[in-house]
Amino acid sequence: MLEAVNVRYEYHGGKVALDGVDLQVREGEVVALMGSNGAGKTTLMKVLVGLLRPKSGKVVLDGSEISELSSKEVARRIGYVPQIADSLFFLESVREEMRYALRNFGIGDADHRVEFLLERFGLSELRDRSPFSLSGGQKKRLSIAVVLAWDPKYVLLDEPTLGQDKSGREAIAWTIESLRREGRGVVVATHDVEFVSELDPQVTLLSSGRVLASGQAYEVLSDEKLMKSANLLPPQSVIISKQLTRLGIRTTHRVNELVSSIATLMRCKEFGDKHR
Ligand SMILES: Nc1ncnc2c1ncn2[C@@H]1O[C@H](COP(=O)(O)OP(=O)(O)O)[C@@H](O)[C@H]1O
Ligand SMILES: [Mg+2]
Repeated sequence: MLEAVNVRYEYHGGKVALDGVDLQVREGEVVALMGSNGAGKTTLMKVLVGLLRPKSGKVVLDGSEISELSSKEVARRIGYVPQIADSLFFLESVREEMRYALRNFGIGDADHRVEFLLERFGLSELRDRSPFSLSGGQKKRLSIAVVLAWDPKYVLLDEPTLGQDKSGREAIAWTIESLRREGRGVVVATHDVEFVSELDPQVTLLSSGRVLASGQAYEVLSDEKLMKSANLLPPQSVIISKQLTRLGIRTTHRVNELVSSIATLMRCKEFGDKHR
């Protein structure tokens, strides 16, 4: 388990970005860290991976405080994909970036793994291009592929859907789901309520550096008061499912179930019209 315990963080100048935050992610679990701009998501990700040291509280990685582990050991076990992906790249080609990541941690069979990951992220055609010439969405996918190259047990993704088109979002959703199935712990910092609604993870909701709520996605996303106080809009599917519930139709927020409830309703109406 990767765990933040009562973490407080202050930037120079006294800005309190995290104020007594607890967060836990277990192996095989996805946690969405949600909150509007400035809520403290990125700061918490950096604290979790040891890039920022909390003023008080601690981060515990599988039973050891990370302040007692070497930065290489932490990086080997926690893969962190920052919000701005560019900062990870420094080599001439996409393939070289991937190879370097593997060599750095002494992982064998590099070529096979590099090709597998490039394929998985739709980057095979771009393997000889400079990372800096890629689009924002491609850079983001490359940065996730680089981090996965060394097989970390925990993966932290900061705003992974930012700048992604439909297929990019699908690739990221699919990746998160497979990381979970492989037994890794994943933390996704995001204010993308639509993405979280489809992913259906555990949610921790941050506002002004404090945890407002933790729970299953639908529980949190459908709480209008809570979402309003976090300065987030509920996802469209939650708004529609609530309106259907008010009409006496039991359904869920999942898009395919919403569609089948609506289809059933329409068939009932057609049947009623015919037999009137
Ligand atoms: N380097 C910094 N120096 C001072 N304040 C910062 C710095 N980085 C972030 N902050 C402030 O800390 C708070 C949390 O920021 P951040 O963690 O980036 O939020 P989020 O990722 O949720 O948008 C914000 O009020 C932000 O302005
Ligand atoms: Mg951020």
